[in-house]
Amino acid sequence: MSSIEVCLTHQQLNNYHHKDKNVVVIDVLRATSTINTILFSGAKSVKPIESIEECMKLKGDGYIVMAERMGKKVEGFDFGNSPSKIKRELFEDRNVGIATSNGTKAILKTKGSKITLISSFLNLSTVIEYLNTNKRDTLLVCSGWKGSTNLEDTMCAGAIIAGLENYEYKSDTVIIAKKLYDESKNNILSSMKKSSHAKRLSGYDNIKDIEFCSEIDKQEILPYLDDDQIVLL
Ligand code: MLT
Repeated sequence: MSSIEVCLTHQQLNNYHHKDKNVVVIDVLRATSTINTILFSGAKSVKPIESIEECMKLKGDGYIVMAERMGKKVEGFDFGNSPSKIKRELFEDRNVGIATSNGTKAILKTKGSKITLISSFLNLSTVIEYLNTNKRDTLLVCSGWKGSTNLEDTMCAGAIIAGLENYEYKSDTVIIAKKLYDESKNNILSSMKKSSHAKRLSGYDNIKDIEFCSEIDKQEILPYLDDDQIVLL
């Protein structure tokens, strides 16, 4: 029977094997929600980048460049990391480079997996369906915030686990994530508003982002990491 594990922050990835596994990266507020929305809006690709310096270099190649640090847009970039600001007329048929505090770093660390999927609440059921029809050992990677576990990523991992069929729970973090989701599933938004990052973001007038990222199954897409860029499966 295939197994399911949850890694609660990308800094803990060294404790897990991810080679040849299904890997799902989650950063609900906001990197994976943003990446999903960019591709849902018709962009050709999204390149996750480690540093803001590297990301800015892509501008010369015609990329839209996006960067966030401490929840805010980095000066000089076209956009920060706000999914509610993504508009089809701006992103359709474009290539995008993005560097965020945790989410893009988490994605880059999963190279060597069988497949790395990009998940948020927005494409929850599409990810669950993939995992139930392509059964193999699976690792859910919560990005977290600067080494700390966060509520929204763990809750989203629990939502994925709740939809899986015939997977063996391989770590206590699976039980923790599932219990957190079971407690919150009837009102994801109000639970998310209690999170430290939601409080950090609300200070920068990002209430719209928190509401946007709490919506379930608005985007039936399956973004995955194809070499060094994220495209739709
Ligand atoms: C992250 O990468 O940690 C988040 O996406 C940060 C944010 O967008 O506020």
